[in-house]
Amino acid sequence: MKILVLNGSPKKDNSDTMHITRAFLEGMNEVAENEIKTINAIDKHIEYCSGCFACMRNGGECIHHDDMCGVLEEILDSDLLIWSYPLYCYGMPAPLKALLDRTLPLSSMAMQKVGDRYEHVGQRDFTRLRYVMICGCGFPNSKHNFEPAVAQFKLCFPNDHTIITVPESPMFNAPEASVVTAPRLERIKEAGRQFAQSGVVSDDLMTEITSPMIPEDQYAEIVNGTVN
Ligand SMILES: Cc1cc2nc3c(=O)[nH]c(=O)nc-3n(C[C@H](O)[C@H](O)[C@H](O)COP(=O)(O)O)c2cc1C
Repeated sequence: MKILVLNGSPKKDNSDTMHITRAFLEGMNEVAENEIKTINAIDKHIEYCSGCFACMRNGGECIHHDDMCGVLEEILDSDLLIWSYPLYCYGMPAPLKALLDRTLPLSSMAMQKVGDRYEHVGQRDFTRLRYVMICGCGFPNSKHNFEPAVAQFKLCFPNDHTIITVPESPMFNAPEASVVTAPRLERIKEAGRQFAQSGVVSDDLMTEITSPMIPEDQYAEIVNGTVN
């Protein structure tokens, strides 16, 4: 399978979230070897969408001729997109949001009603694509935190999506926390294996991998202790 990782962390390989993503991919690769490419959104020259809709009319092209042309080709050449990013202000970091906005040429201006909502009709064929969101965050729990990002992802990619949100993710980059992060990464690897085998992660395992690694108050205390 061709997997494209869209890394939204400006920290690139040093991203806390990429620890989760790499473990998930490792698990997937244990089931069957995949062809994996990673794009660091921060490295790409991607102009903001101008909102002219030229790209959505008659198979049109974007007015910006920048790195997004290549990114779109990579997307269309993939079977699975993994959106790996840290939660920034309850959403995705700006460079990745700019990339998401610029996927507009894949859709046409035509709208269709699906259930009780509208969506644009595709003007390129990306129906085989599946989507995974892997999102880390700095707060100790997920409540009143990940909801906007999760809602956005589900609306953008209503079909074939899997969503993994992990709180306390700066711990993945703290070697002294390996006593809790190493077993967690093993469980995330198992999630990757399950996903590769069946296309889903079981509810029990999902609950396990998205829960805080240490008690919320303890995490907050540790963070607060390093602030001053
Ligand atoms: C601009 C900015 C906004 C952030 N907003 C949130 C937030 O809304 N909720 C949260 O829990 N953490 C927030 N964080 C913390 C990051 O999500 C956290 O540090 C994460 O582990 C960074 O992941 P990365 O290393 O993959 O980039 C924010 C960090 C930054 C720099």
